[in-house]
Formats: sequence, C-alpha cells, structure tokens
Amino acid sequence: MARIFLTRTLPGKAASLLESEGHTVETWPGELPPPAPDLAAALARSDAAITTVVDRITPDMLAAAPGLRIVANMAVGYDNIDPAAAAGLGIWVTNTPGILAETTADMAWALLMAAARRVVESDRDTRAGGWKTWSPTGYLGIDVYGATLGIIGLGEIGEAVARRARGFSMRTIYHSRTPKPALEAELGLARLPLHDLLEQADFISLHVPLTPETRRLLGPAEFARIKPGAILINTSRGQVIDQDALVAALRSGRLRAAALDVTDPEPLPLEHPLFGFPNVIITPHIASASEATRARMAEAAALNVLAVLADREPPTPVNRPAKPRS
Ligand code: NAP
Ligand code: GLV
Repeated sequence: MARIFLTRTLPGKAASLLESEGHTVETWPGELPPPAPDLAAALARSDAAITTVVDRITPDMLAAAPGLRIVANMAVGYDNIDPAAAAGLGIWVTNTPGILAETTADMAWALLMAAARRVVESDRDTRAGGWKTWSPTGYLGIDVYGATLGIIGLGEIGEAVARRARGFSMRTIYHSRTPKPALEAELGLARLPLHDLLEQADFISLHVPLTPETRRLLGPAEFARIKPGAILINTSRGQVIDQDALVAALRSGRLRAAALDVTDPEPLPLEHPLFGFPNVIITPHIASASEATRARMAEAAALNVLAVLADREPPTPVNRPAKPRS
C-alpha cells in the first residue's frame, strides 16, 4: 500500500479516509510547516502528499522524489507548486475548487464592511478606554449601500462576492481576463479595463490567482489611478499588490483604508509599516477558514490522492502529465 505525507494535521475525516483504504499516513508533527529539507526528505519517501499554500514545492524537490505520484494542494490557489514541472515528471498536481468560494466571499465582505465602518479600529479604541461619549463626528466611515464595487478577477470567488453586492444595491464593475456575458446580464455587471475600474470603484476587491501576469498587478501606476478615498480589500495573494506602493497610497491618504487577508510575506513582520496604520486591517490568511469548508477541502485533497493511487484521473487536476507515474 502507498505512503502518504500530510504536511499538517488535517481537519475532518481526510486522514481516516486515506487510512481506511489501507494506506500509511505520515503527518508532519509540527505546529509550523515542515522546513524545506524535511519537506524534501518526506516527499522523497512518499507516493503522495497533501500540502498547503505555505509549502513551497520546488522542481528540485519533485525531481528528487522518485515515487511521488501526486501533490494534492489543500487550496484552490497553487502558486506554491510548479504544475508544469510536476507534469514533466509524471506527477499530478490537484487543488480544491468548487468548495471554498462562498466562505471566502463571506470573508471578503466581512473585511469590506469592517473597513468601511471602522469596526476593528473602534473596537481597539473602545478596549483602550477611548469611548468617552457618543460623538456626531466620531468614527465616520463610508456607506456600502449604493456604492460602486470593483471586482478584479471574476472567477468562482469574484462571482460569489458580486452576488452578495446585490443585497446592498451596489453598482458592480469588474476586470477579468475573460468576459462573462451571462453573469453581466444576470447580475448587471460591467466589464472595464483595469485603470477604468480603479478610477470608478469605491471598494476594490482582488480575486485573481497569483501568476506571472498578476504579480504586482497593483503597482505605483495603478495606485495613482485609484479613486481618492477608495477602500482596497485583498483576499487573493499578497504578491498581487506592490506593498510599498500600497503603503505610499495609505500615507498620502489616497486610499481611505485597506483590509488584507494576505500579505507579502506571510506572516508580515510586526515592524512592517502596514501595522502602523489604524485604517489597515490584517487577518492571517483565514478567508476559507470555516469548520465545514476546511474539512471539505481536506477531504477533496484526500479524494484526489485516492484516485491517483488507484490509477484513476484525479477529480480536480491543475496539470495533466502525459505519462502519469504508476
Ligand atoms: P478562479 O475561479 O480561477 O478565478 C480567478 C479569476 O481571475 C478568473 O476569472 C480568471 O480569468 C481571472 N484572472 C486570471 N488571471 C488574470 C489576469 N491576469 N487579469 C485579470 N483576471 C485574471 O479562482 P478563485 O477560486 O476565484 O480563487 C482566486 C484566488 O483567490 C486563488 O487563486 C487564491 O490565490 C485566492 N484565494 C485565497 C484564499 C484565502 O484564504 N485568502 C482562499 C481562496 C482563494 P479566467 O476566467 O479567464 O480564467
Ligand atoms: C487559499 O489561499 C487558497 O488558495 O485556497
């Protein structure tokens, strides 16, 4: 039977599912992810691995893992792996689409609302004894209802975010690689070039994957186009934003606020300037973190592994090896 490496303890029944098929499961015992040498050594002695977004799987690690047949990422994003290099070696790479979009969209909205109405900042002040009285001018935010929402990347999560915007009677505009005419008609969306979206949106929410094209998609030129007073929400990947340009836009006051579930790097060092802004919310990459969704993600990764170990095509591949290892 096969040997399966889990880089972290998984929620739900994923591990027992793998064991019930007779496979041997080795789980990295640490609270932190395995350091690169331990990860490489574990891959080299395994037939399959379930990884997370913080496990960087290099082509060298894959090349040094002669029995490895699949890397099942417990995430929808897979920028921590090179799927083409894996395919060249006959190794499947899989992700977990179709599961976490609603949960992640909920979190994007939680961040949007919290930034608009200064929820985190005012809670922090209240705990520090700053609540003296009701004030006609205290903690003024901006209205979400009726505002313009700009979605960058209209895939599964972007669509779920757009659907929620209808409840707030928002005008929703989007920028995405491929036009989505059916969604435009159903939800009343307008597709715009990136810079036009930035000029018009009161709230900008990022939902692109991290690729060579989207790395630093928002740089100095883009921040210069952002509508003054807009709010930026990022639940995609930290590297999609040029963080120095973000800091400059916050310092100048062009951006009213930012709410970030992802940063570059993660975790962000505590001395980073972003922590100095009261109008910046930073959460620790938790957008998919509901109990039910994380359990389903782990189970989906396990089902991908079981399929490949049974010489079947995995349910949700992101590459297609010409000659899968057997
Ligand atoms: P998805 O369904 O693949 O959607 C991504 C969308 O981005 C697609 O519509 C795609 O266009 C578009 N896109 C890709 N490259 C682009 C570019 N260069 N310019 C403009 N648009 C581009 O993915 P998803 O499930 O919505 O997830 C999006 C990302 O969110 C993931 O890759 C991951 O990085 C991140 N994420 C983060 C968390 C978290 O915990 N914070 C949780 C889940 C996901 P096409 O329609 O042409 O493909
Ligand atoms: C989380 O970041 C994911 O890509 O699922």
